Amino acid sequence: MAWQANALISILLIAAAAHAAPAQSETEDQEIAQSDLHDIMSNRITDAVTRMELLLHDHSRSEDELEQERSRVAAVIGDSAAELQHSVDFVLALEPRLAIPPEQVPQFTGFAKTLKDQALELETLARQHRYEMLKPAHERMKATCTSCHQQFRGY
Ligand code: HEC
Repeated sequence: MAWQANALISILLIAAAAHAAPAQSETEDQEIAQSDLHDIMSNRITDAVTRMELLLHDHSRSEDELEQERSRVAAVIGDSAAELQHSVDFVLALEPRLAIPPEQVPQFTGFAKTLKDQALELETLARQHRYEMLKPAHERMKATCTSCHQQFRGY
């Protein structure tokens, strides 16, 4: 076959050339370069891309997990806030039996009702997954606890 003859001639020529000059032939040099390129592609470049893909995948997965975790926390906050509203009803029902001076009763029930409204607000925010508003709403609610205690603890 013609290409085999050509190849043989090429090899002979290369061998002769190599003999004449120790430098690598252009073809050999290209083959080495080709094989180096192959190594870079199949190892370094593929590794880098795969690593990035893994990181990006993990990242999106942990975003999902974060959302699930937030959602779980919000559900517990919602339930606790609902329970708190019921507790305020008990406080209001108890009020007539507490020794609160009559003129201060409206203030006491006012604090209790504010607490119930704030608990409802907190429950609503939690059920609607408005996470960033939960902390401020919780802080506002705690301020009502403090206010009522300042006025009425001891009754
Ligand atoms: C309507 C008024 C009022 C509100 C609002 C209120 N409390 Fe109280 N709380 C009282 C009174 C009065 C006492 C004292 C009763 C006792 O312990 O004999 C008390 C007592 C307590 C006690 C008992 C221990 C202590 O420190 O005396 C705790 C704990 C407490 N409150 C927590 C809270 C929390 C938490 C909130 C808010 C979510 C809250 N309270 C809101 C009136 C209120």
